[in-house]
Amino acid sequence: MFRVVIKVLFFIIVAFPAGSAGAVEFSAAERELIAQHGPWPMQFASDSSNRVSGNEQAIRLGEALFFDHELGIDSKFSCASCHDPGRAFTDGLKTSQGRVRLDRNTPSLLNLKANRWFGWGGENDSLWAQSIRPIVAADEMANHPDHVREMLLSRQRYRQFYLQAFTAEVGSETSEQVLVNVGKALAAYQESLLSQRTEFDDFRDALLAGDQVSMSRYAESAQRGLKIFIGAGRCNLCHLGPRFSNGEFADVGIAYFTADGVDAGRYGGIRQLRANPYNLLGKYNDGDPQSNALSSSHVRLTQRNWGEFKVPGLRAVAATAPYMHNGSLPTLRDVVLHYSNLDEERLHTDGEKILRPLQLSDTEIDDLVSFLRSLGEE
Ligand code: HEC
Ligand code: HEC
Repeated sequence: MFRVVIKVLFFIIVAFPAGSAGAVEFSAAERELIAQHGPWPMQFASDSSNRVSGNEQAIRLGEALFFDHELGIDSKFSCASCHDPGRAFTDGLKTSQGRVRLDRNTPSLLNLKANRWFGWGGENDSLWAQSIRPIVAADEMANHPDHVREMLLSRQRYRQFYLQAFTAEVGSETSEQVLVNVGKALAAYQESLLSQRTEFDDFRDALLAGDQVSMSRYAESAQRGLKIFIGAGRCNLCHLGPRFSNGEFADVGIAYFTADGVDAGRYGGIRQLRANPYNLLGKYNDGDPQSNALSSSHVRLTQRNWGEFKVPGLRAVAATAPYMHNGSLPTLRDVVLHYSNLDEERLHTDGEKILRPLQLSDTEIDDLVSFLRSLGEE
């Protein structure tokens, strides 16, 4: 008799795990919102401003250069020193450590293909221009174009890849042209860095297909978190689409004071973008500026750009702690708490009317974190 009771109890526990009474239901409208975060992997257009976008030899040259310490002036840093493939191409530091301590957190390099802006303030309008910046920036790799050209000339393998990708000899090009092409090869490589499919993607596809069995494999807390993400939390107003970013800029109330001043965010980004000889309005754009440089020529500098930073994509976000442009939030739970307890007075611009303190319960906080984790840990 006792054994039967135990068996029955066991059956009840296994068949009806805690919480299943309130299995998460999604309305037709919610299903439509969830559908917008896929499919994954998504198809990205190649970069018309970079004639070696997708070129096999350029990708191989870019990959070799990415891990080469000699791209830095004193062989101290490679790109991978800060963008570590084992950490979803971040460094795990609050703010990046170059030749000096930098003010910003090192972002992941996953899923950057066909982005519009690069850098936390959108300082660049192409992946190749963004890739030139650290090579010559005094506080990062501090190199000089002449030295970069000499380094390529000294390696037979690089000369060969270069010739195949750009149909020109390194030796017959100016240092500036070589530097730009190094940026374009690095960009071709980085375009190939896409994150894996995740538990969320399996759930999304199953939900659209009405496949209840596959849907039930997705943790219920993640399902409840997803419901908040696209519902009461309104996270998807900025973190939208398959990458979970609209690619633009917003102010979510993170302090912009730095050790020795302020980080002007998008405001500074627009000014740097305009002053940059490698922007899409310049002579190194391989495509038609009438079609691929429109955003760059239309961008307007306004006061509200102060305190705005790029909306980060959220795929593999569990692997990229700490968070925000200044790395000020150590864990995903801290990020969710930030949105939950948001101090509206802290928002520097008047435009972010979408944001308000969510005042989530402990369970809701756990659920949202569980959902964010389901976007991949690489
Ligand atoms: C000293 C550390 C360091 C090194 C070395 C470094 N980076 Fe970065 N990287 C950063 C930081 C910090 C940022 C954010 C910069 C900003 O917002 O202004 C960044 C941003 C980027 C971005 C923009 C990502 C986005 O989401 O917009 C790309 C692309 C990039 N780096 C590629 C490279 C490449 C290619 C190299 C090697 C040529 C490189 N980085 C070397 C620290 C580094
Ligand atoms: C108004 C647009 C907007 C909304 C709404 C919004 N975010 Fe963000 N999110 C951003 C911006 C901008 C940043 C970067 C801010 C910074 O670094 O100063 C960010 C950063 C993040 C990060 C850190 C990512 C990283 O790599 O550092 C996470 C996680 C995140 N948001 C999750 C959420 C969640 C969850 C919600 C809903 C509760 C939400 N966001 C709502 C714009 C938004």
